[in-house]
Order: sequence, then C-alpha cells, then structure tokens
Amino acid sequence: MDLYEYQARDMFEKHGVPVLPGIVATTPAEARAAAEKLGGGVVVVKAQVKTGGRGKAGGVKLAKSPEEAERHAEAILGMDIKGHTVHRVMIAAGAAIAEEFYFSVLLDRAERRYLAMCSVEGGMEIEQLAVERPDALARVAVDPLVGIDAAKAQEIVAAANFPEELREQVADVIQKLWGVYKNEDATLVEVNPLVRTEDGAIVALDGKVTLDENAAFRHEDHAALEDKSAADPLEAKAKHMNLNYVKLDGSVGIIGNGAGLVMSTLDVVAYAGERFGGQKPANFLDIGGGASAEVMANGLDVILHDPQVKSVFVNVFGGITSCIAVADGIVGALKALGDEASKPLVVRLDGNAVEEGRAILAAANHPLVTIEETMDGAAAKAAELAAAAQ
Ligand SMILES: Nc1ncnc2c1ncn2[C@@H]1O[C@H](COP(=O)(O)OP(=O)(O)O)[C@@H](O)[C@H]1O
Ligand SMILES: [Mg+2]
Repeated sequence: MDLYEYQARDMFEKHGVPVLPGIVATTPAEARAAAEKLGGGVVVVKAQVKTGGRGKAGGVKLAKSPEEAERHAEAILGMDIKGHTVHRVMIAAGAAIAEEFYFSVLLDRAERRYLAMCSVEGGMEIEQLAVERPDALARVAVDPLVGIDAAKAQEIVAAANFPEELREQVADVIQKLWGVYKNEDATLVEVNPLVRTEDGAIVALDGKVTLDENAAFRHEDHAALEDKSAADPLEAKAKHMNLNYVKLDGSVGIIGNGAGLVMSTLDVVAYAGERFGGQKPANFLDIGGGASAEVMANGLDVILHDPQVKSVFVNVFGGITSCIAVADGIVGALKALGDEASKPLVVRLDGNAVEEGRAILAAANHPLVTIEETMDGAAAKAAELAAAAQ
C-alpha cells in the first residue's frame, strides 16, 4: 500500500524524522485557514496524489500569503496529474532551501536484502539521474539482519560524497528514516528532496512510503491509512470476503484454484480471445484449494457483479479437493445466487474424480453452464460467448 505524502509526513514525524508542519485541506477556504494557522507566512500548496512529478505538473506551488494559498488550492484541487484527480492538498510550511539531496531505502528482492540509495543531487527525477549520471547516485547494500546502524549510515553518506561537515547530521536523519522502514514494515521509504535549509537544518520535504500489506496484522493503525474511496469497489468486496481477486479490464471472468493455474488461465483466455475480437480476462481470482460451495458462490458473486464481465470461465483442477466437491460447489453456488447468476459459465474440470464431477454438473443441467473438457477448448468457448454478448 502506497501512502499519500501527508501520511508519510506524519509517519516520519512519529519516528523523529525532521519534517515541516503540514495541514491537509480539501477546499480552498480550508487551505487559506491552514495557511493562517501556520503563521500567515510563506507556505507551499501541494497536491496529494499517489504519483511523483507533482512539482513539474504544476501541483506544488509556493504561496506568500493565505490569500495566495487559497487561490493556488483552487487551481490545484480537481487537477488531473498523470491520471490521478487531486481531492486534497497539503499546506506545508515553506522552507528556505539551500540544497536538495536524495535518499531512499527499499526491498531488493533479487539480492534478498535491502538497498539504500543516496545522492547529493536530489530534487530532480531520480530515474533520470540514475540513467544519465549513475555515478552521482550511491547504491549501498543493507544487510537485513543489521539494518542501517551508525556505521552503515556513515558508509551511505560517504558513498554519496556528502561534505564532511554535513555527514553526521545527514547520517542521523538516515538512521531515523531506517526506523520508519523497519518499525512500520515498509518496502520503500523515499525522500526527494531531503534538504538542507538556509539555517542549517536537514529536513525531509517530500516523502514516499510503501507499506508491506503482508505485515498489516502487526500494525492495527495501518488500516486507517487505506484510501477506501480510491479502492476498486469489487476489489474491496472481494477483500472483505477474503478472496484473492484482482480486477482487470477484459470481458471474461476467471475463477480458478491455485495462483499458477489462474495465471496460465489468464494467458490462455487472452490468446483464445484474439480470435473473438480481442476478448480479454476480466480478473484474476484464485479460490485456493478448498473450492467449497461458499467460496465458489462468493467468487461468482464478485465476478457476476462486474458489469464488464460477459462470460465466466471456471477452471478447476481437483487435487486434495476432488472434482465432486468442486461440482457440488458450483451447483450450490448457482442455487444460492439464483437470478443473480445471469451470465454464461464455461466449466473445465480435471484431476481427482473428474468423471464424477462432470456427471454432477451434467445432471444439474443448468441452462447457463457449458462443460468443456480441455482448458484451451473452454477458453475459446468463454471468449466466444463473451464476444456474442457484446
Ligand atoms: N515545503 C516546501 N518548501 C519549499 N519548497 C518545497 C516544499 N516542498 C516542496 N518544495 C519544492 O518543490 C519541489 C517538488 O516538491 P515535491 O514534494 O518533491 O513533489 P514531487 O516530487 O511530486 O514533484 C521540491 O523539489 C522542492 O524544491
Ligand atoms: Mg519529490
């Protein structure tokens, strides 16, 4: 889960990282009041969207007075930045910037450790710096068992060529940012820019934090950070039902058991769909090993309520759960859903007790269900039905 800048700011503050005061506003009038509350001096009005490059897009604007902050907020609220609509701005105290630096720490999956990146040339887009002047971006491996202790922080500031007189101060902030990363179970903490102000303070002026959702059980407070309004309603519903569901853009709803099978089902449907006007999978949904009637009903419930879905492909390989249980699950689910089950279903069963499973589906003789023997055949049928319904 990515956080908004204002959430990252609050989290930084909680862990002792130096930040400037900031107040969130959703209307120009609130922005003005926030600027007044911050003392009436120079503030920065900052669009709160989960994408970088807000400054370049006109989403970060300096205001010399509360009236100007109100006007900037008026212009920025509702703005579209790289496909993200601005619903909130943060009114932040204005910093007198002397220098801009860059720091981040992230999970380096390929190397099975963490990676710290640091540069005395912050502010600009770091991807660009990494490509154009890779030497200017220090990359320092971080041992997960040790983390960023005082020695590692010194190594990072030295690698980034910070002048001697700043090293201690910056290393101290880096250790505090590591505290955020570790204690909040983040997979990314990025500060761009980390600045030196004219009066000599080191301050995090922008913050990007990605939290590891697999660690959510350790952090009761993280749930409140979730942006419910931005979440896809179908994904939210599926999450509530404990389903592994990801909404995609196509017309063929997919239910399968096992992430690997579902992934290959997406490929097979996309491939078969090319012959039927470019039909594509509408979702990823792995109902796991059990495939009980209840789980099947929940899965169908979510998929059938996706208006983009025109047909559904149920692709189950019976393992420990036999095809008998799966077929019973499908029949039970269709019964439970009643009239809500309104789109054609193509079912491919294989594996443990496949004949008995198919016999159960054949006996139920549901008008919406087509049984196919092979995965390719079922994918083609589902794509054909989706095309026909458009
Ligand atoms: N509180 C602030 N005071 C003064 N300048 C700021 C402040 N916040 C941001 N800036 C300036 O605006 C630039 C862009 O802001 P930033 O928060 O980094 O947004 P983004 O990375 O999305 O463009 C920064 O590099 C900095 O120069
Ligand atoms: Mg930035």
